[in-house]
Amino acid sequence: MLSETKQMVQNFWEDASCGEELYLSGITKQAYQEQSQTRYHLEPYIKDFAEFENFSGKKVLEIGVGLGADHQKFAECGAKLVGIDLTARAINHTQHRFQRFGLTSLLQVADAEHLPFDDEEFALVYSWGVLHHSPHTEQAIHEVWRVIKPGGVTKIMIYHTWSFVGFMLWIRYALLKVKPFTPLRDIYSQYLESPGTKAYTVEEAYALFSKFDSVKISTVLTHGDLLTSSAGQRHQGLLLSLARKLWPRWFIRSFFPNCGLFMLITARKPLPT
Ligand SMILES: C[S@@+](CC[C@H](N)C(=O)[O-])C[C@H]1O[C@@H](n2cnc3c(N)ncnc32)[C@H](O)[C@@H]1O
Repeated sequence: MLSETKQMVQNFWEDASCGEELYLSGITKQAYQEQSQTRYHLEPYIKDFAEFENFSGKKVLEIGVGLGADHQKFAECGAKLVGIDLTARAINHTQHRFQRFGLTSLLQVADAEHLPFDDEEFALVYSWGVLHHSPHTEQAIHEVWRVIKPGGVTKIMIYHTWSFVGFMLWIRYALLKVKPFTPLRDIYSQYLESPGTKAYTVEEAYALFSKFDSVKISTVLTHGDLLTSSAGQRHQGLLLSLARKLWPRWFIRSFFPNCGLFMLITARKPLPT
């Protein structure tokens, strides 16, 4: 039984998986292939961050598989894969994708805050753009800790508070509504993807991962920050089309390289002393 907030998150992603409306034209092999191509074109940093090829033969859990593009990469690189998502829609997509490419993974609907796995099962727990949607992100990170082997690694992307995406949403939903004191927290929660979405400062992210060691955190300017894509599933309109033409991309890249929406976190579970 899901809480009311988590039910809203699930409903949101059951309507359409991430990127489905914008970048997936069907459930054929070709459609999944094209979705992957678009994804890695728009988000080239995923491959460097995930290091798919380093996990050949290792037991990997992906939390929040979505349409399954990263999951496919891990499978093609030979990982022993397990994947979960809060929605049946995402699990179905990933199963369709894997059938079409002849790949295997143990896929199931499950909740990041209550992982149905034993302690210390995985060499890597990977999650891209998921845990900030779950109402109790710190509980999900505790679960990540629990299921990783000592010496194992987690690679997680969550949203970063001080981003141009947040700034644009603030202009649209606070400034233009003459509510300039609306906290950025409320803006992310109400207007970016599923209800209750959160974003974190770098300091807050270090605190979330304080039990881990070798914690590395960086932020990236995304296609959303730079308005080089069709933005998210919820955002369209004349104002955005106009901003896309006038957006000072060179200035942002040169002077605000750390104001991107994506915060990439790599951390290790220490070996017992
Ligand atoms: C923005 S999408 C990201 C999907 C995929 N990782 C990607 O990069 O395209 C967020 C996904 O997280 C899933 N999700 C949200 N809360 C979750 C939870 N508590 N447990 C598992 N999955 C969750 C949603 O169902 C959705 O598929």
